[in-house]
Amino acid sequence: MKILVTGGAGFMGSWLVDELLKRGHDVTSVDDLSGGFMRNVSPKCKFIKMDVRNKKGVDKIVKGVDIIFHLAAYAAEGQSVFSPIEINDINITPMNNLLVAAVNNNVKRFVFTSSMAVYGDQKTPFDESMIPKPEDPYGISKYYCEMMLKTFAETFDFEFVVIRPHNVYGPRQNIADPFRNVLGIWINRIMNNKPPIIYGDGHQTRAFSFIEDVTPAIANAGFYDKCVNQVINVGSEEVTSINDACKIVLESMGSDFEPIYEPARPREVKHAFCTIEKSQKLLDYKTKNNLKKGVKKMVEWAKEIGPQKPSYRIPLEITKKAPKVWVQKLM
Ligand SMILES: NC(=O)c1ccc[n+]([C@@H]2O[C@H](COP(=O)([O-])OP(=O)(O)OC[C@H]3O[C@@H](n4cnc5c(N)ncnc54)[C@H](O)[C@@H]3O)[C@@H](O)[C@H]2O)c1
Repeated sequence: MKILVTGGAGFMGSWLVDELLKRGHDVTSVDDLSGGFMRNVSPKCKFIKMDVRNKKGVDKIVKGVDIIFHLAAYAAEGQSVFSPIEINDINITPMNNLLVAAVNNNVKRFVFTSSMAVYGDQKTPFDESMIPKPEDPYGISKYYCEMMLKTFAETFDFEFVVIRPHNVYGPRQNIADPFRNVLGIWINRIMNNKPPIIYGDGHQTRAFSFIEDVTPAIANAGFYDKCVNQVINVGSEEVTSINDACKIVLESMGSDFEPIYEPARPREVKHAFCTIEKSQKLLDYKTKNNLKKGVKKMVEWAKEIGPQKPSYRIPLEITKKAPKVWVQKLM
């Protein structure tokens, strides 16, 4: 199978590329390196450095492709409220380009990594039968992409799978990004000799999902018949409060820091975790690493790459109501 992975130099994309190569596929990885790294790119794949907002470029790279896994995005959910112009452009334009190219090049299957963010502030656990009610631009952009994919797949007769991952973490995550991935932000702050920051009271709950568990399920979405045209949550069933997750990170790093508490961020959903039965049935998903075990592996990797200088990729377009640590770049 000839496979195209967008966002292939990123965290989840690079793990997926490796998994697909391991399974013997011919993999092309495309990434503009805005959030990914060459250190993540396997020498065994064909790598193209390109912005997938480039329509002509996308037309070219989709030629002859059987399966697209579309992961390229900027998943800064909290920041998306304050930088909606740029983040919507990054998250929406590539989907339109890829869909048109997929139709014109007879792509057989299109797998899209959406997000749990589409559920918004509904009753947990979120299950796939709920009508999405996204709370922020990131969630709205993901829901837009899901609906475009479903509409085009139905109209032009190709297969699709929508994956809704949640709070994925592990080695290769971009820990230099001050706007996303709480565990990585904490690990990097502690390595930079700064205490971790918690927004709100820390009683928020999430189900953190380890990359080694999530990747095989996403890869399976490209090939299994039983998941065709389905929307499927992917991630762990282990629900943890932000306070407890922070304790696990501090313990794993052998740190004596106490977290600093900052005001809650606008529109942050308090409780967000998903049902996992559908992914177990349709994608053979299994949680093999609990949070303690996964964090230990992530911390070992983070210590190898060492403390990272925070990198502010996209400026805040709105500063009103934005956390002061973001406005003043205190990370
Ligand atoms: N990590 C999570 O917890 C999580 C949860 C739910 C959904 N997702 C989704 O999974 C996907 C992968 O997330 P990730 O955590 O690996 O993020 P990531 O930032 O590590 O990877 C995304 C990659 O896309 C690339 N990219 C961004 N815009 C691009 C563009 N216009 N053209 C080419 N490349 C571009 C970046 O350089 C980066 O390497 C995203 O679609 C994200 O929304 C992630």
